[in-house]
Amino acid sequence: MSNTVLLRRIAHLTGILPETTTRLAGEQMKSIQAIDNAYLLIEDGRIKDFGPDAKCPLERADEVMDCSEKMVLPAYCDSHTHIVFAGWREGEFVDRLKGLSYVEIDKRGGGILNSAKKLQATSEDELFEKALERLHQVIQLGTGAIEVKSGYGLTTDSELKMLRVIRRLKEASPIPVKANFLGAHAFPMEYKQNRAAYIELITNEMIPQVAGEGLADYVDVFCDTGFFSVEETEAILTTGAKYGLKPKIHANELDYSGGIQLGVKHNAISVDHLQCTGPDEIKALSGSTTVATILPSTAFFLGLPYAPARDMIDNGLCVALASDYNPGSSPSGNMSFILSLGCVRMKMLPAEALNALTINGAAAMELGASHGSITPSKPANLIISKTGMNLESLPYFYADNWIDRVLINGKTQ
Ligand code: NIG
Ligand code: FE
Repeated sequence: MSNTVLLRRIAHLTGILPETTTRLAGEQMKSIQAIDNAYLLIEDGRIKDFGPDAKCPLERADEVMDCSEKMVLPAYCDSHTHIVFAGWREGEFVDRLKGLSYVEIDKRGGGILNSAKKLQATSEDELFEKALERLHQVIQLGTGAIEVKSGYGLTTDSELKMLRVIRRLKEASPIPVKANFLGAHAFPMEYKQNRAAYIELITNEMIPQVAGEGLADYVDVFCDTGFFSVEETEAILTTGAKYGLKPKIHANELDYSGGIQLGVKHNAISVDHLQCTGPDEIKALSGSTTVATILPSTAFFLGLPYAPARDMIDNGLCVALASDYNPGSSPSGNMSFILSLGCVRMKMLPAEALNALTINGAAAMELGASHGSITPSKPANLIISKTGMNLESLPYFYADNWIDRVLINGKTQ
């Protein structure tokens, strides 16, 4: 017997896409299809059918939810997070308030290296418990698919430990979890004077072992001034490709680093951050399949300039938004806030920002065919709003929790 859940009298069922649309670019991002006063039928955790409420085929279901005056949206797809970490870094936050920059903190051994020190001393079980709690927290905030990176290990053992935690998250999670190997997140102190040796450790030891255990879907590099150069990044991506790991790059967060062009050259699934993006970078991305993923909460929290989302969309790019949830530069995985930042600080229109958080976030994890929209047969990963909301009011109420309920595979979380 199948299990059915019926949502009735939905004021605005928003984010509908045909099965064939797995990403939206440029002009296409401006529109979002909705049905007012709609029903939606869930069968065995998947979207079975939807349409005007007057045409609802059923009166009964195993569960009926009255969604009068509420919106129903696809759950967010957060394609860039670092939720496996051992502890917060609020001390460094205060150091920044007192005038130190993110890069200065990193140079004196804080930042990513601080997180690595704590993570190396923390057991796999404890890391898993903490990360699972964060995963459940972001699901409650509307996330219905997520990517999680390693990169706070920085030794072979600790990177493998992080990736095993991510594998356990995959097994325990009701939402899809993609694993990204980010051994090239920072140079450990002992390699700062011998960078080539750390690149060799990554290419000769870490990648073969990560791939050997099937622990990662992607390989990532923090390609930026003061971190990994274009040449070092290229060596890692080339080895990753030999082992079947597709690239995603932290690019152009701090400088015009060449990371975007390199990502396009290597057919990266996405290039992420992108604060330093000009006409050359936009030209490189045009016509490529690489998703331009913007992380506006990092710009907000570190006081950096925002990525030029308007120019990117106006030039036809496929733009995604993600949270970058991590203890250093974005200590929150609340994607509703990202929606507001996209609109308030980057002048994205509500439809563009919502598309960037849903179908394009899914595309940045190669999940565009299975997640990120209201489409028959996709899992019923849905956000139900409180009453009185509409498309424009979602980003407008930037600090309110307007989410009434989150359904994952049709089940209330
Ligand atoms: O995506 N930019 C590099 N890595 C992370 C920050 C990591 C940290 O500060 O712990 C990011 O922002
Ligand atoms: Fe990141």
